[in-house]
Amino acid sequence: MKILIFGSRGMLGRDLAEAFSRDCDVLGADLPETDITRADVCLDRVGEFRPEVIVNAAALTRVDYCETHEAEAFRINGEGAGNLARAADASGALLVHYSTDYVFDGTKPGPYLEGDAPNPLSVYGKSKLLGEDRIRLYCPNHLILRISWLFGANGSNFIRKILDAAHQGGKLRVVADQEGSPTYAEDAAAHTRIMIGAKCRGTYHLTNQGACSWHQLAVAALKSAGMGGVAVDPVSSEDFRLPAPRPRNSVLANGRLKSEGLPLMRPWENAVEAYVRARFSP
Ligand SMILES: NC(=O)c1ccc[n+]([C@@H]2O[C@H](COP(=O)([O-])OP(=O)(O)OC[C@H]3O[C@@H](n4cnc5c(N)ncnc54)[C@H](OP(=O)(O)O)[C@@H]3O)[C@@H](O)[C@H]2O)c1
Repeated sequence: MKILIFGSRGMLGRDLAEAFSRDCDVLGADLPETDITRADVCLDRVGEFRPEVIVNAAALTRVDYCETHEAEAFRINGEGAGNLARAADASGALLVHYSTDYVFDGTKPGPYLEGDAPNPLSVYGKSKLLGEDRIRLYCPNHLILRISWLFGANGSNFIRKILDAAHQGGKLRVVADQEGSPTYAEDAAAHTRIMIGAKCRGTYHLTNQGACSWHQLAVAALKSAGMGGVAVDPVSSEDFRLPAPRPRNSVLANGRLKSEGLPLMRPWENAVEAYVRARFSP
């Protein structure tokens, strides 16, 4: 199978390229040579390589930066996704795209299902929702995977920042009143393969199983790194103000995977332990 991965040098993109390279013909594309905001460039890349599957892991992911760079966020996360959708549709390829828990406002008392109404709070969330809408409009042959609280080997992420701060001996204060479902990039990449193989189409929630607060995630990561004795002060979102508002609850129920009898990703605690042991063991 021929697969063209946009955003192939990002945190998820690198794990996707590795996961598919085992038995597929993989071509990676990323900035600066491939800009998904250029419709002509998207069409050229797809036309030259003629993939059966196009994977879009490219995005502007700096949530607080997006808040003050709205036009740029909508151009990349919204219109860029639309450009890939049109290129995929014109070529007959399946488009696999990643979206986010931040399309939800966090007011639901329980985990979010795929059919729940989005209502993003932040510019980032709104721009990612536009990307979803463009894909549904332009490319019926799509698979949208909403992931959340991503961590992995190849990028800056919350767990890496916590472990770095603990090593530097700083005082750790972590938000305890936001709940979500961590997603290990390596697991999401492996699962993307499974879902393409199972001919999944439409929108799915794809996370490691279970839920936690950022505080619980920090404590678990420190414990896995043998630093369980490091104190982490729980703080509220009000005490830790950031430019972009975050949903209090963005736990994603993997409702469709369950109802369709598809395999689930391992519990988040096991994924965090595997990640920390593999990347941060002395
Ligand atoms: N990170 C999370 O916590 C999280 C949570 C939920 C969902 N997601 C979604 O998961 C996907 C992957 O996220 P990630 O954390 O792996 O992202 P990432 O590490 O920020 O990687 C994104 C990649 O896209 C590239 N890119 C940015 N603008 C582009 C453009 N105009 N044209 C082509 N490439 C462009 C980036 O290049 P530069 O580095 O040069 O800008 C980078 O290589 C995204 O769709 C994201 O929205 C992420």
